[in-house]
Amino acid sequence: MIRRYTYGTPLPTDAVVKQLNTEPGAPDCLTVSKSTDGTVLSFPLPEEAMLFGLGEQLHGINKRGHLYRSWNSDDPQHTESKSSLYASHNLLLYAGPERSFGLFVDDPGEVIWDLGYTRMDAAVITVAGGGFDLYVITPEENEDRQLTAMCREFRGLIGRSYVPPRWAMGYLQSRWGYASEEDLVTVARGHRDKHIPLDGICMDIDYMERFKDFTWNREAFPDLPGLCECLKAQHIRVIPIIDAGVKAEEGYDVFDEGEEKGFFCKREDGKDFVTAVWPGESRLPDFFRPEVRAWFGEKYHRLLDAGAEGFWNDMNEPALFYTPEGLRRAYETADALRGALTEYDSSFKLSGAFNALANNPEDYRSFYHTVGDRTVRHDRVHNLYGALMTKAAAEGFAAYRAEKRYLLFSRSSYIGAHRCGGIWMGDNCSWWSHILLHLKMLPSLNMAGFLYCGADLGGFTANTTEDLLERWLQLGVFTPLMRNHSAQHTREQEIYRFSIWEMMRGTLSVRYALIPYLYSELMLSALTDGLYFRPLAFDFPEDRTACHVEDQLMLGTQCMIAPVYEQNAVGRHVYLPCDMLMVRFRTAEDYDMEPMAQGHHWIELKLNEFLLFIKRGCFIPLARPAEYTEAVTTERLRLLGWLNPGEKSTLRFYEDDGVTTQVSLREGVRDIAVDTGGAVQCDGSVCDTAGLVR
Ligand code: GLC
Repeated sequence: MIRRYTYGTPLPTDAVVKQLNTEPGAPDCLTVSKSTDGTVLSFPLPEEAMLFGLGEQLHGINKRGHLYRSWNSDDPQHTESKSSLYASHNLLLYAGPERSFGLFVDDPGEVIWDLGYTRMDAAVITVAGGGFDLYVITPEENEDRQLTAMCREFRGLIGRSYVPPRWAMGYLQSRWGYASEEDLVTVARGHRDKHIPLDGICMDIDYMERFKDFTWNREAFPDLPGLCECLKAQHIRVIPIIDAGVKAEEGYDVFDEGEEKGFFCKREDGKDFVTAVWPGESRLPDFFRPEVRAWFGEKYHRLLDAGAEGFWNDMNEPALFYTPEGLRRAYETADALRGALTEYDSSFKLSGAFNALANNPEDYRSFYHTVGDRTVRHDRVHNLYGALMTKAAAEGFAAYRAEKRYLLFSRSSYIGAHRCGGIWMGDNCSWWSHILLHLKMLPSLNMAGFLYCGADLGGFTANTTEDLLERWLQLGVFTPLMRNHSAQHTREQEIYRFSIWEMMRGTLSVRYALIPYLYSELMLSALTDGLYFRPLAFDFPEDRTACHVEDQLMLGTQCMIAPVYEQNAVGRHVYLPCDMLMVRFRTAEDYDMEPMAQGHHWIELKLNEFLLFIKRGCFIPLARPAEYTEAVTTERLRLLGWLNPGEKSTLRFYEDDGVTTQVSLREGVRDIAVDTGGAVQCDGSVCDTAGLVR
C-alpha cells in the first residue's frame, strides 16, 4: 500500500506515473516537524533496524550510520567522507524488528538524510524546499518478503524501467582520449584480432569539434557515417557522449538557435547564465521546458543519422567549472591577500578561493528555470536537471524512430529518469575499494528503478593494474552495463594491452555465454517491477547473518554473486543463505561445479577464477560464447543447476528480438522445464543437461 502526503506546494518532478490522492493527517511511522532548515521527518532506529535504498550513494548496502545528502554533485573523489554523488534517489526502506516501511521523498531540491549519524538511535530527514510529496509504502502483513514487495509497489508507482537494446548487454570499451577514426579502428582491431568480445565503443568529448555538442571534428573524423558503418559490419556500435553545457560561440548553430529562441537558463536580470565546462564558456539549456527538450532532443538525430545507436549524457548535474561571478570573487580574495600571506591560513584562503570555483553553491543559486508557469531558482530543483536532459534525449529518440530501442545512460539522474535510460556511476578510481562500492550501489539503484547500470570497470581516474581490471571485470560480467572506461593520461586500459589479456578474454566469454540468462532476468525485472540485484536481506529476512552480508548479492531469481575485491586475494569467504551449486568459472567452457551446503565457506580462487552460485533446485542456461551479442543464440543451451533425483524445476525465460520498443511479457516469456528423469522441455530450443548435478 502506498499513501501520499503533501507538504506545502510541491513542484512537478515527473517521478511518479500514478496519481494518488493526498491523505489527510500524518503517517503513523514518523514524526513531521518544522525547523529553520526545512521540514523534518524523523523516526526511531531500534538497534536491530536496517535501512536500504538511496540509489547511487556511498557507504553500505545497509545505509544506517551515516549522513547522506541528496544533491547531485560532480565530484570525482568518491571517498568515505563524501555524502553525495551524481544522482539523488530519495527512496529509503526501513526494516525494523516490528515493522517495515518505505519512504519516497519526492523533492528535487536538497534533502539531508541523517540516518543514525547524529544519534545512533534516530533517523532525521530534512527537506529544505518549500513543498514536497511524501510517499509512504507499507507491505501487506502476511507478505514474507516485505522489502521486495515494497519495491515492487514503489516501482508500480514510478513506472516501467528503461529497457536497452540487447546489444547493450555486450562489452563496451571507452576511454577519454579516443580522438580520431584511427583511434576507434585501432580499438576495434585490438579486440577483433585477439577475439576479445566487443559490442560498442564509446566516443568521449574528443570526437567533437572543440567540445561542441552534436558536432564532430571533420579532420579527425572525415567520414563518421562510413566509420559507423564499417564498425557496425564488425558488430561494433558507436556511442557518442553529449554534455549538458553548450559552447558559447557565434556561428555554432546550437548556440545561435538557443540564444535566438531564449532556450538557455537565465539569471535574475533576464540575461543568460554564463558558465564554463569542457568547451570553455557555455550555456545551459533549460531542460525544464518541453520545447527546449524537443529542440535539444532533435539534435541527437544528427548523430543517429551518422550511424550512432547509443549515447551517454554527461556533466548534467549540471557541472559548473566556473562562472564569471565566481572568478571575480576568487580574484577579489586573491587581491585582498596580495602581499599579505602572513597568517598560517592565508594560503589556504587563497587556494580555497580558487578551489571553490567549481560547482559553487552561490552559482547554483544564481540562475532560474521555467517550471510550468513558474520561474524557479535552480537550487530548488537542482537534482532534476540531469534527469530532464535524459528525458530530452529519450524523447528525441522516440521522435526519430519510436519503434527502435537506443542505448542511453546518463551520469546525473533522479527517479523518473529510470524510465528513459540507464546510468553509470561516474568518475570512480582505479582503487580496490571501488569494486566493493560498485557492488553496494547496484541493488540500491535497482530499488529506485535503475536496472541498466554499472561502473567504469578498471576504474576511471588513477592507473589501473592488471589484476584490478581482471577482478573488476569479474563483477562486471554480471552488471547490465559492462563498460571499461578510463580517464585521459591514465594507464591505457583496453584488455588487449595487458599481459593477461587471454585471462580477461576468458572472463568476458562467461559474460557472453550468460547473456541469454542475464538479458532474460533484466527484462523480467523491468516488466514485472522486480529487482535484478537484491541484498541477501531481501530474500532471507529471517537469517540474521544473511541480512548483514555487504559483499554478495542475489542476482535474478536463481543466483548469487560473491566477487573478489581485494588485491592478492587467494580466495574469499562466502556465506550461503541456502544450499547452492557453486560454479567456479575460468571461461565459459572451463568451469567446475560443486554442491555446497548452507553456511560459511572459505573458497580458494586463483586470479582467473570467479564465482556464481545457483540455488539448489534451480538451474540457469549457458549459451555458447561469442565475440558479439548478435552471435549469442539460444539455439543450444547448456543448463547448469543442482536438482534432486526425480526433481522437476522450471525456469521462467524471457526472449525477444532485443531491438523493438514494443516489449510484452506474454509474448516473450516461456518456461524451460527440466526433470531429472532426463526430459527437457523448452519450446523448440535444444537444451543440454550436462551441467545439471543430480
Ligand atoms: C566526466 C565524465 C567522464 C568523461 C570526462 C570527459 O568526467 O564523468 O566519464 O570521460 O568527463 O568527457
